Amino acid sequence: MPQNAGLNRRAFLKSAGMTALVGAAGTGALPAAAAGGASFAPLGSRYDFDTVYNRVGTDCVKWDQQIRTYGKETIAVGMGIADMDFRAAPCITRALQERTKHENWGYLDTPRSYIDAIVNWNNRRYGLTINPDLLVLSNGVHPGLIAALKTFSPPGSRVLLATPAYDGFYSDLTFCQLKAEESLMKEINGRYAIDFEDLERRIGHDTNTLILCNPHNPTGNCWSVEDLTRIGEMCLRRRVVVLADEIHCDFVTKGGTYTPFATLPNKDIVRNSITFKAASKSFSLSAMKAAWFFSDNADYIARVKANNHVDLTTLGMVANRAALAEGDDWLDQAVAYIDGNHDFVESFVKERIPLIKFVKPQGTYLAWLDVSEVINKIGSKQQAAEASKQSGIPVTPETMVQRYFVKSAKVHMSAGSAYGLGGSGHMRMNIATSRKTLELALGNLAGALKTL
Ligand SMILES: Cc1ncc(COP(=O)(O)O)c(C=O)c1O
Repeated sequence: MPQNAGLNRRAFLKSAGMTALVGAAGTGALPAAAAGGASFAPLGSRYDFDTVYNRVGTDCVKWDQQIRTYGKETIAVGMGIADMDFRAAPCITRALQERTKHENWGYLDTPRSYIDAIVNWNNRRYGLTINPDLLVLSNGVHPGLIAALKTFSPPGSRVLLATPAYDGFYSDLTFCQLKAEESLMKEINGRYAIDFEDLERRIGHDTNTLILCNPHNPTGNCWSVEDLTRIGEMCLRRRVVVLADEIHCDFVTKGGTYTPFATLPNKDIVRNSITFKAASKSFSLSAMKAAWFFSDNADYIARVKANNHVDLTTLGMVANRAALAEGDDWLDQAVAYIDGNHDFVESFVKERIPLIKFVKPQGTYLAWLDVSEVINKIGSKQQAAEASKQSGIPVTPETMVQRYFVKSAKVHMSAGSAYGLGGSGHMRMNIATSRKTLELALGNLAGALKTL
């Protein structure tokens, strides 16, 4: 692996406390795979999610971006942006290796086998029947959402969101010159529910779309048939198009259920929606830039298609096709492993981090942590006010907590204030990593907070 900008990976491991971690993983050194070494073979029929897979120096946002922001003296355990630390499913690596044997990278003619892989995957795993004629490829869920927003929501109009909501939605709205109409969810003891009366009250003459996130990033709700039907009925009645972002659909914790919006029994509701999906969360293929959207409504699809520009890359298509055609077993095991990570976080926080509150979510690989007591203890509100005054740009208390955790606990997480109304007092921790890395991050947090 090339050294990145002179980054000393051994220094990183030491500063983040990962030397012990890597040692404990039985390698005694950086994993050979990081240097393009041996392929990731299943252990018997089990895949290995336990071995720490070092991503530092690969120009990844989760680890390298925060090093660039904070400097390599304070390298923290990367628990922020939503991708996974695991080695890719072997079927993906195999397909990529095979394709790279042919050394020409000219324009790609998307093969039918890719469309078939998407259609079959959705049918096999979620009982969705997608008409290939009403399936549109995109370079990500964001580009698809942006095309739909540009189609249905004129600049200056409002888009309905149940909040706290994924920060990327706000960027999409800004890009399309739209305003968020935020409906704060009800929260009782860490469990979130949509406030339906408030949601409907917020629909104005200039509200043409609602972005639904199922499972919901960052709170992890897997919306029930009743929730989805209620949203669908309301939107149909009030002429609001439902844009259902179901990118996190594969990550459902024990006892939870993912209900695709497109499987609701009321077909009028379904026809008033477009669903956006990808394999990018499920198989950590986000930089491969491939996703898709579909609807039963040919008119909606034709109109959005006119605003959608897609250019798949050859490697992106090959990786995604392999994942969808052959990755079921790997994904099932990854989901079970992450469910175990959620349990681990729940018991660890309960036993050892009294200043943080956490309730295991129904879905996603994200832990939505209540850090309001930490904010009080370290005086983040005053610090934020001071920092805002000095920099001239608004700094939130959660940003101050983010800095505090990087500096004092060597853990990097996402600041709750990025998730809109209701995000204050929270941090989002991505737990799609090896149990050892997770344990290191939690141990670091416990250690830092004990001294307060
Ligand atoms: C709810 C949600 N939608 C979309 C995305 C990003 O989609 P893409 O990378 O396919 O554009 C994310 C990434 O975290 C997400 O959480």
